[in-house]
Amino acid sequence: MSRGLILGIESSCDETAAAVVERGARTLSSVVASQISTHATYGGVVPELASREHLRAIVPVVRTALAEAGITLDDLDAIAVTSGPGLAGALLVGITYAKALAFARDLPLIAVNHLEGHIHAVLLEERQSCPDGRSSRDDEPALALVVSGGHTHLYLARPAEGTWKYTLVGRTLDDAAGEAFDKVAKLLGLGYPGGPWIDALARFGDPHAVPFSFAQIKPKVHLHGKAPRTKAAKTAPIANLDPHFLFSFSGIKTAVLRYVELHHMRAEAHARVPRMLAMGRPPKTHEDALALCPQPTLDLIASFQHAVIGDLMKKTFAAAESLGAARILVTGGVAANHELRARFTEEAVRRGLTIAFPTLALSTDNAAMIAAAAWPRFVAGETAPAELSADPSLTLGN
Ligand code: KG4
Ligand code: ZN
Repeated sequence: MSRGLILGIESSCDETAAAVVERGARTLSSVVASQISTHATYGGVVPELASREHLRAIVPVVRTALAEAGITLDDLDAIAVTSGPGLAGALLVGITYAKALAFARDLPLIAVNHLEGHIHAVLLEERQSCPDGRSSRDDEPALALVVSGGHTHLYLARPAEGTWKYTLVGRTLDDAAGEAFDKVAKLLGLGYPGGPWIDALARFGDPHAVPFSFAQIKPKVHLHGKAPRTKAAKTAPIANLDPHFLFSFSGIKTAVLRYVELHHMRAEAHARVPRMLAMGRPPKTHEDALALCPQPTLDLIASFQHAVIGDLMKKTFAAAESLGAARILVTGGVAANHELRARFTEEAVRRGLTIAFPTLALSTDNAAMIAAAAWPRFVAGETAPAELSADPSLTLGN
């Protein structure tokens, strides 16, 4: 009898990852090779460098995933790969490798949407904690917030005939929340990616020191003939979405910049961290950054994080209420944030809703979530066509 072993491969952005998952429910290995050190110098992902690093890493990462799972290629039942959304060149490395492997080994290939992968990171861990590998929650609909460096999307996820169906409920009109964390960290001279730096420093500041606010997006204003402004905004349509569930994070980044300029926080006497940016030398550790950050900068960081999380919460819980979802999943890199987890959990308890997050390792990009999302598709016989290619703007659901 087949063991139901799927090798997942993920290369959509700046992480080369491979994992072996049994029946979508048990992770035998999950290997992630991060390219952070390559991109850190540039303060963001450089697509050409990402493709080159994926090419370098893909073979050893897959080999390590198989070895750590204690299996060989002969034991596999299928190969799953992220087909989009993401960087075209980066996606192509994973797809080409997965296709070649599937062809050589005569294994089915399953194409997985990266966003669905993030949702399955939570579902995988729920199943993992059940002795029979089937979560009692597998038949409950959930409102899923996918919040990362490339996405801030709300979906209603519903189990349907063994697989899952998704309906887009809300999304960002411009920057993703993680992008806002990265840009604010960059302008303050902190390291890349910015989320973990802001997360670490925010706990030392006053979250109410700077009153950042988010304007309500007006009905239909977002549709007045304007094309979405960023790559992230193109990955899903915005017509027909309730404006109460739309996000916009480009304004707060500018507000932080204005605040820094207005309060002369770049001045030498006041903030040494911004000065380090000018010198092209970001601090090496969170402790270094803390020692260099004056209190007003820490207050600014705490206020920024508090405001972004407040906006994510307001819209997520409003959508859950409006759709009658009793269960919320929060996933993607920003779901690793400590304040986010604490405040979402507190609010869910207050409202009598259940809430789940992936463990920190599965919050950011990984391949276990890709192999897990592929399992129901494998069972349903949904294999990828031979001409499968990268779809950088792939959308999820309808
Ligand atoms: O899911 P992910 O690894 O890649 C994408 O699909 O984008 O998410 C990366 C994003 C980055 O923007 C990073 O700054 C953010 O997640 N991030 C965090 C934290 N850890 C990672 N944001 C806030 N707090 C964190 N602890
Ligand atoms: Zn991601």
